[in-house]
Amino acid sequence: MAFETILTEIDDHIGTIRLNRPDALNALNAQLLQELGKALASMDDNDKVRVIILTGSEKAFAAGADIKEMSDKSFVEMFGSDYFGPEVEAMLKVRKPIIAAVAGYALGGGCELAMMCDFIIAADNAKFGQPEINLGVIAGIGGTQRLTRFVGKSKSMEMHLTGRMMDADEAERSGLVTRVVPAKDLMADAQKTAAKIAEKSPLSVLAAKEAVNRAYETTLREGLLFERRLFHAMFATEDQTEGMQAFAEKRTPQFRGN
Ligand code: HXC
Repeated sequence: MAFETILTEIDDHIGTIRLNRPDALNALNAQLLQELGKALASMDDNDKVRVIILTGSEKAFAAGADIKEMSDKSFVEMFGSDYFGPEVEAMLKVRKPIIAAVAGYALGGGCELAMMCDFIIAADNAKFGQPEINLGVIAGIGGTQRLTRFVGKSKSMEMHLTGRMMDADEAERSGLVTRVVPAKDLMADAQKTAAKIAEKSPLSVLAAKEAVNRAYETTLREGLLFERRLFHAMFATEDQTEGMQAFAEKRTPQFRGN
């Protein structure tokens, strides 16, 4: 597939998507989000891919939705086209894990995009923020909801109301990112983490992602039942037999996704 605003690569079961609009700090325009949706769907369908890494440049993961593209739009255009709604829905359909490897700015829609991934590894120069308030609008693809669940109401509210940025250390302390690594090591760390996931049974990886995400969607009781039923269902797979036999035989399991 030929893309103009993203770069894609598949290597050793890891699909990498790099946002690539360097002149606009990877600002998210309609073309980029459509191409991202297509690349994600194609990797989700591709048996060679077990994990996806989404990244940007050293200076910016993404500095938000493209302000120049949005500035002249009317309410009728935004509401009528459900601006970025379908693109966001496409991203949420991806069943394989997506790791966000974030360096530099992750602002507005960029912060929201990172939060839509399954977890975030941050470079020590990463900066997160929801500065839409400075533009006379508010977050539009999940910021008010997701950031609040990650970092709690107080910090999220302050960030949405003041538009201030959070550095990588604060993001780690607040639970927004899983860890901070030196910027030069970001991709190596993300790839090592992805490789670790790619060794597991692809079926249990899908199930674990679905079950963790349920924690955001339902009551504790329903979530626990959902998890238990998925756990039971894993016993219908050959990978469960292989994983447990390998443990007993003190060898590395060979998971085949059956
Ligand atoms: C369009 C952008 C952009 C954006 C940067 N650029 N961010 N273009 N949309 N979000 C462009 C600049 O216009 C400039 O182009 C080039 O990228 C480099 O940016 P500079 O501002 O010169 O860089 P710097 O001085 O280093 O400042 C970096 C920055 C700043 C702090 C990140 O660019 C900034 O504040 N950007 C806007 C961040 C923001 O408000 N994001 C939220 C957007 S709203 P030229 O052509 O001048 O060189 C949003 C809503 C989400 O995300 C909901 C969607 C439905």
